[in-house]
Amino acid sequence: MNLNTLINNNKNHFDKKFKELLNNNLDRSILSKAMFYGCNNGGKRIRPFLVNEASKLSNINRNDSFIIAASIEAIHSYSLIHDDLPSMDNDDYRRGKLSTHKKFNEATAILAGDALHDLAFALLSGNLKNDNYKSKLELINYLSLCIGHKGLALGQSLDLEFENKKINKSKILNMYINKTGKLFEFSFSAPFILANSKKSDILFAKEFGRLFGLIFQVVDDLIDEIGTFKKIGKTPGKDIKQGKSTLLGLIGEKKVIDMCNNKINLFIKNHRVILNRNPILITMLEYGMKRIN
Ligand code: IPE
Ligand code: IPE
Ligand code: MG
Ligand code: MG
Ligand code: MG
Repeated sequence: MNLNTLINNNKNHFDKKFKELLNNNLDRSILSKAMFYGCNNGGKRIRPFLVNEASKLSNINRNDSFIIAASIEAIHSYSLIHDDLPSMDNDDYRRGKLSTHKKFNEATAILAGDALHDLAFALLSGNLKNDNYKSKLELINYLSLCIGHKGLALGQSLDLEFENKKINKSKILNMYINKTGKLFEFSFSAPFILANSKKSDILFAKEFGRLFGLIFQVVDDLIDEIGTFKKIGKTPGKDIKQGKSTLLGLIGEKKVIDMCNNKINLFIKNHRVILNRNPILITMLEYGMKRIN
């Protein structure tokens, strides 16, 4: 089965369970409706796919794998709702539909993002079946670190600070690792952390997730430039219009693709044994380079 099919099968399964979970947790308030709208609306569910693959490798139970994936999609959706706000990237569309602040209003979108963020922590602290409290606490602590002032929020702040400035490659890379890489890092390593896997496996999982996330952001930038609204469901051409500092803008398409391929090759060289045993991981990195939306 090719990777697209695997990702889609996982998405269909995840979407069904996620909808059920949201229906069980949310109510009829405007806030709940905006939360539902912002996270149950046609995302690709790539992060849940990473969680699923890591769950198989680390042998955690299906409930806990789903709860980790659901909490990550809640965080991811919060970050997109806020990313689209007028004070950030100011995009009226997301996943082919009006962005949450356009469908509702700005204040509701801000609060829906906040509450989705909180829902993620409620799920991780309340809904995991694993009874190793030390691992659970480590997991929750690690998510906090990946998305806060040394993670996603920092990356988003740098992204805005870097608009319309000449920023060097290492600073842009650092911004990418934080705004996008660290949530992917969490996605692939969380099952290993919960399973109390050996240190070297957890470190490998973090490195794999971070690399996947970096590639994902680089390709997101490419797609911003060459994609159509129909394909990407968000306004194309925005990065240039808004003066975003991107690697694509700084070094051009060829060099940016070469850079990613070099990073993948180095990763493969450094982890040959574990990757030979799990060739799907290489296929996932290759998919990251080739995806078109
Ligand atoms: C978009 O993420 C934001 C980035 C980190 C590049 P996705 O491309 O995963 O968005 P959805 O969830 O599929 O809409
Ligand atoms: C977003 O990066 C990264 C987040 C953490 C939300 P972008 O601003 O490039 O994402 P899109 O292109 O709006 O999806
Ligand atoms: Mg942005
Ligand atoms: Mg954006
Ligand atoms: Mg983008």
